[in-house]
Amino acid sequence: MAFRIALLPGDGIGPEVVREARRALERVSQIFKRDFSLSEHLIGGAALSAGHAALPASTLEAAKASDAVLLGAVGDPAFDHLPPASRPESALLALRKALGVFANLRPAKAWAGLEDSGPLKKSVLAGTDMIVVRELLGGLYYGEPREWDRTSDRAINTLRYSRPEIERVARVAFELARERRKTVVSVDKANVLETSQLWRAVVNDVAKQYAGVQLTHEYVDACAMKLACAPASFDVLLTENLFGDILSDEAGAICGSLGMLPSASLGEGAGLFEPVHGSAPTIAGKNIANPCGAILSAAMMLRLGLKLDAEATALEQAVEKTLASGLRTADLGGSTSTSAFADAVLTMLART
Ligand code: IPM
Ligand code: MG
Repeated sequence: MAFRIALLPGDGIGPEVVREARRALERVSQIFKRDFSLSEHLIGGAALSAGHAALPASTLEAAKASDAVLLGAVGDPAFDHLPPASRPESALLALRKALGVFANLRPAKAWAGLEDSGPLKKSVLAGTDMIVVRELLGGLYYGEPREWDRTSDRAINTLRYSRPEIERVARVAFELARERRKTVVSVDKANVLETSQLWRAVVNDVAKQYAGVQLTHEYVDACAMKLACAPASFDVLLTENLFGDILSDEAGAICGSLGMLPSASLGEGAGLFEPVHGSAPTIAGKNIANPCGAILSAAMMLRLGLKLDAEATALEQAVEKTLASGLRTADLGGSTSTSAFADAVLTMLART
C-alpha cells in the first residue's frame, strides 16, 4: 500500500529544505521498501506569485486526500502590505484549521556536539530534553471579531477559548508526559486573563485523570525567563496558541539553532509536519539553510503520521551521525551547504 504524502515547499528556504527532506524520504523508501507516493503543491507566497490564492483549492484537496503533509515554510516580504487574511501566512492557518490539527508538538533538546553552538552555557543546557505542546486552532489566531479599522485607527483581535478546546490538547500533553518524565508545566497568564483562568481550571481537571503525572502552572513571563535560565527543568510544556508560538522559538534558540527544530501538528485526520523555522527570506536560494528541521519533521511524519517507527528512528539517527561527524550548516557556525549536509544524511542512512 502506498503512503500518500503531500509536500508543500512554500516560500523562502522552504523549497530548499523540503527538497532535502524529499530526498531523505526517497532514500528511506528504497532502504525499507516502502511505497511513498509524493506530490508537490503550491502554498503561501509561491501560490500568490503564480496567480492563485495563498491556499489554492487544489492544494487543500491534495492535503486532505493524503496520509500526511510535509510543509516547508510560508511568508514572503513581497506580500507584507496585504491584510492578514490574504497574506501567505493565512494559508497555513487555513490549512491547520481544515486538517483539524489542534495539537502542535515541538520537541527541543540539547543535541550532542551542539552544546556550544547556541547562546546558552553548556552547563545550563546540559540534559535539556523538552517538548512544547501548543494549542493550534484557537486563541488570538482565530478569534472573531478581528479587524484593523483604518478610518478610526483602532484594531481588535479576540482571545477566546472553550473547555473542549483546552481539554483535547491537555490530554495530548498528559499522554506524552506519561511516556516521558511525567511532568507537565502548563503556561498561562492567569494573573491577568480570564481565558487563562479557564485554561488553568480545565488543565487541573484533566490532570485528575493522570494520577502519575505531576502538573505545575507557570505564568508566561516567568516561564520565558525560566526557559532561558533552567531549560533542563522542563519536560512537557503545555500552552495556548500565541504563547506556544513564542516559547517554542525561544526553546529552539536555546537548544542551538531554530534550524534544528521539527514539529508535528496532530488532530483528527492527516497530520501536518513542518520545521519550526520560518521562510528566512534573507538566506533563501543560497543553499545555506539548515535542512535538519525539515528532515527531522519528515522523521516525525514517519513515526506519528505513518506509524513507521523503525524508519523514523533510522532517519533521526542519520541526522545525529551527520552532526557527530562534524558537519555544520551556517546557523551552527559551520560552512556545510544545505545539500551537502543532506548528502551526508543520505550516506549515513544507507549504512543503517
Ligand atoms: C509557526 C509560525 C506560524 C505561526 C506563522 C508562519 C503563521 O510562526 O508555525 O510558529 O505563527 O503559527
Ligand atoms: Mg512561530
